[in-house]
Amino acid sequence: MTVVAVLSMKGGVGKSTVSLGLASAAWARDMRALVVDLDPQANATMALDAMGAPFTTSDVLADPRPGVAADAVVDSAWGPTVRVLGAERSLEHRNSRQGRNSASRLRTGLATMPRDYGVVVIDCPPSLGELTRNALHAADRAIIVTEPNHFAVHGAAEALEAVAVIARAANPRLTVAAVVVNRMRPDEREHRLHADLLAAEYGALVFSPPLPECPGIPQSQRAGSPIHAWNSPGSRDVADLFDDLLDAVLPPPPRRPAVPAFSLRKYLA
Ligand SMILES: Nc1ncnc2c1ncn2[C@@H]1O[C@H](COP(=O)(O)OP(=O)(O)OP(=O)(O)O)[C@@H](O)[C@H]1O
Ligand SMILES: [Mg+2]
Repeated sequence: MTVVAVLSMKGGVGKSTVSLGLASAAWARDMRALVVDLDPQANATMALDAMGAPFTTSDVLADPRPGVAADAVVDSAWGPTVRVLGAERSLEHRNSRQGRNSASRLRTGLATMPRDYGVVVIDCPPSLGELTRNALHAADRAIIVTEPNHFAVHGAAEALEAVAVIARAANPRLTVAAVVVNRMRPDEREHRLHADLLAAEYGALVFSPPLPECPGIPQSQRAGSPIHAWNSPGSRDVADLFDDLLDAVLPPPPRRPAVPAFSLRKYLA
């Protein structure tokens, strides 16, 4: 079970879009996925039509004892393979430190659940408060989302720094899976400039190619549909990119051991 945190210190750059895109890629390959919404805005919860669940991530952060997280998980509107641990507005109150082990409560809560998901995707709020810290304590991989502009690139650098600090101090399993450039319009000079800047700075960590501006993304989110089931110009290409991004997040499949030659000879004899 791979746990991936999707973050940026900048708002509106596409964290929820990438979280939903990864869940959609899992949905398309029938892989069980859990979306954990750590953003009080609850946009991922809304898109998955899971608002109004009796328990949310706020309850898990208040009390991560066994049973609480499992009880808070509900089905999404996408079908039984994609499940949700949703958010609610009052989660805002948990964005500051709350007593002992405040940053590792989500990790504790998830550890008490059955580990039968192929991927767990944590959608973070646009700040480095206790909510994002909880995501980074719980995650194996981090995806940093940015747009190709000056302020967003600054937010991406801050997010990478936060990942490095938490990986060093508290969660040595945590590695960066990718820096994803979203809403790229290649005909805009400013976008090309910042995409080149990111490639020069972070090299192979930058997911390539960038995710393009695509009207099918907000349309599918509004309709509560996985992007993989959305049929509009460009959405198939975006869905393919999310397939590649999910592959970049998951560990490579184990290599099949080569069949030793002598066993073949034994059967042929
Ligand atoms: N590649 C894209 N093409 C077109 N629209 C997009 C694209 N990526 C995101 N959007 C739209 O931009 C808006 C902001 O995206 P999103 O909610 O994913 O950002 P966010 O980083 O999660 O925001 P916040 O910081 O508020 O949580 C949404 O309406 C989304 O549908
Ligand atoms: Mg969001």
